[in-house]
Amino acid sequence: MNVSVIGTGYVGLSTGVCLAEIGHQVTCIDIDKSKIEKLNKGISPIYEPGLERFLQKNINTKRLSFTTCYEEGLIGSDIIVMTVGTPQGPEGKPDLSYLERAAVDIASHLNEDTIIVIKSTVPVGTNNHIKEIIDKHIADDIKVDIVSNPEFLREGSAIVDTLKADRIILGSNKPSAIAKVKELYSTLNIPILETDISSAEMIKYASNAFLALKISYINEIANLCELVGADVMDVSKGMGMDRRIGESFLRPGIGYGGSCFPKDVLALQHSARDAGMTFDLLSETMHINNLQQLVLIEKAKNRFGELKDMNFAVLGLAFKPGTDDIREAPSITIIQELIKSEAYVATFDPAASNNMEQVINHDNVNYCTSLYEAVENADALFIITEWDEIISMDLFQVLSLMKQPVIFDGRNCLKEEQLLECEKIEYYPIGRPNL
Ligand code: UGA
Repeated sequence: MNVSVIGTGYVGLSTGVCLAEIGHQVTCIDIDKSKIEKLNKGISPIYEPGLERFLQKNINTKRLSFTTCYEEGLIGSDIIVMTVGTPQGPEGKPDLSYLERAAVDIASHLNEDTIIVIKSTVPVGTNNHIKEIIDKHIADDIKVDIVSNPEFLREGSAIVDTLKADRIILGSNKPSAIAKVKELYSTLNIPILETDISSAEMIKYASNAFLALKISYINEIANLCELVGADVMDVSKGMGMDRRIGESFLRPGIGYGGSCFPKDVLALQHSARDAGMTFDLLSETMHINNLQQLVLIEKAKNRFGELKDMNFAVLGLAFKPGTDDIREAPSITIIQELIKSEAYVATFDPAASNNMEQVINHDNVNYCTSLYEAVENADALFIITEWDEIISMDLFQVLSLMKQPVIFDGRNCLKEEQLLECEKIEYYPIGRPNL
């Protein structure tokens, strides 16, 4: 099939690359000229394991190309996939302006009937709103069907999540359009749920909010475990063994971040409010998450009292391993709190330092290129992101370089055997006994 993908962010790029990989002829369109130039050379603008290999391979086989020109990119397209971002707007509602603009651009350049698949995360009613925009700007003799097809891929495992997704959701009131989109995915062997447009839109928000809720729940259980003397790692394991609960997204830590959960929980709450309902469970989920990001700072204050003039190493800046994305990352809150306390910070991240430096550029913060450089002379270290490089650091060397052997592990990721071998260590995890 000939497929045009609009937008080359995480979702668009992964979708485009994967559709080319399974044999479709794909053209990705983006208004960002420098991004398209890079992509045509096989250079990925984002850090995503496996993506660049597939990108180069499919450019070489001429199944994948990139352009800024709608006219060129839409020629002969059987299906147009919209994946443009819907970032958080000023009031906390998703900003649909990029999607609306792309809809006008598509409509103005379309000269044959087609199907438009919307993958962007959008509130209920948006697919119909976009259809109205397209119908308004399109030539009279052309017809377009819309299919809502929300995306569930995770950053850091985007390729695997796309090719081996748990489910594909297709929402439309046109069986012929659904049949065509099913063809697009037919070689993937993934279960497909057919539904109406509104339910498809809701499935995405309901899923993300539920996962966020699960994380906030286990984080509250972790906080309670600390108070009553239980170990949240065993509690989480024991809960997860019940198939009705499931073990996923029950890892306690310092809260969720990223470009999706924080934005989507808030957007769902706005939708609920607009519909006349408060949905307090969502407010609580967000509230717990905000407080959880400060848990390590509280622990440090309990241990040291004032943090002024102390040296802290912050290991991991990305909102999770496998990405250079720092949007809504707990590390931002933690570093800002340390700056507020007039402490000094040395950070290390295998991928996200440059991005963080754009956001926090302060005399007290030093971005190191090596983990061992970051921990040198530190009074304590904070583990924020469970990168392999951080989990497998040489703990003896790290402790020998530090001023004081104090570790606050925000992801409970250091191995117990290794910790027990260290003679002098003060170890503060989340929701389990200190060492
Ligand atoms: C999330 C969803 O998992 C995807 O299904 C969805 O497609 C995507 O949002 C989106 O809407 O585009 P993502 O934000 O990439 O994916 O990252 P996750 O792997 O879900 O992690 C989100 C946050 O939750 C991270 O900060 C992670 O550290 C935290 N987390 C996750 C926990 O604290 N505990 C867990 O058990 C799991």
